[in-house]
Amino acid sequence: MKKILVTGGTGYIGSHTVVALQQSGYEVLIIDNLSNSEESVVDRIAQITGIMPSFTKLDLCDLPGLLKFFSKNPRIEGVIHFAAYKAVGESTEFPLKYYHNNLLGLIYLIQVMQTYGCNKLVFSSSCTVYGQPDELPVSENAPLKKAFSPYGNTKKICEDIINDHSAASDLKAISLRYFNPIGAHPSALIGELPRGVPNNLVPYLTQTAIGKQSTMMVYGGDYNTPDGTGIRDYIHVVDLAEAHVVAIQRLEKEVANEKTEVFNLGTGTGYSVLEIIKTFEKVNGIKVNYALTDRRPGDIEKVWANPEKANKVLGWKARLGLDEMLHSAWQWQLSLSGK
Ligand code: WQD
Repeated sequence: MKKILVTGGTGYIGSHTVVALQQSGYEVLIIDNLSNSEESVVDRIAQITGIMPSFTKLDLCDLPGLLKFFSKNPRIEGVIHFAAYKAVGESTEFPLKYYHNNLLGLIYLIQVMQTYGCNKLVFSSSCTVYGQPDELPVSENAPLKKAFSPYGNTKKICEDIINDHSAASDLKAISLRYFNPIGAHPSALIGELPRGVPNNLVPYLTQTAIGKQSTMMVYGGDYNTPDGTGIRDYIHVVDLAEAHVVAIQRLEKEVANEKTEVFNLGTGTGYSVLEIIKTFEKVNGIKVNYALTDRRPGDIEKVWANPEKANKVLGWKARLGLDEMLHSAWQWQLSLSGK
């Protein structure tokens, strides 16, 4: 059974990807420093798949620890790298924390992979590298603009580090640029576990619906969009997880003409904040208390993907619609609240 290392594997997208990998026949090893997730996620993954992934609490910036891990776990086929800090607002407050963790963690990872002859990497990137695109839908060859946050900049720099190292080594890599991942596994055993007050729309929405937050603040009603609120391309986390399995399989098959590839992972459809709220209320039969307020600094106005490259080249397409995304998000919130 081929071994895949998932860094950040107890996180939101990481845990869903571990489930998908196990269900595709891989043996999965998880490294996570638990800075933004809980070890109990490992047991929940096993509850879903019946297979307990190996878990090692480790920070990628601990080079001796990382070397020891690879020496104890030989013949890792490939690595899917999620482990990074990802709060846009926090990255503006503490840029050095983000540059140190997100860049050094990647550098040590690919350095140790090379030492141990592991040359396949799938990297968790983000549509934030596009900033506010000039043209929509946005394709992979769109110009990368100055990132709106240090977090977004670390994603862009990491893609460059991967490209440059790949050109000078036998590393083959695929960078996946996520649009807006939402929703949860249908078992409601794993999902988004925001620490403190959620930054992102959907966890804030579900917490408002369940009464943990009093009012859903809609950041900006004066954008140049049909209803004035921001538009994003929301994608089900289960669809996103499947794309990582397809990406690692592509690397194994070695069919790419280039040593590094980039793919947008979106549905190609944009929804506004108000559309999300209205759909959530309809699908779950629950009223949400919301109020329009000022725009959030750093937000772009609207973005949605051109997913054709991933559809045609990667052979992957998002299957799950907005109703299922918002239904599963609510089921997860109910399970979190013990309801
Ligand atoms: C979505 C929309 C907000 C909260 C960021 C990162 C991206 C990825 C996902 C990590 C926007 C509006 C939000 C709220 C609101 N992160 N909103 N009230 O900013 O598009 O993307 O998170 O990988 O890289 O950039 O996601 O969910 O914060 O916002 O009105 O309480 O919801 O203005 O229009 P975003 P988001």
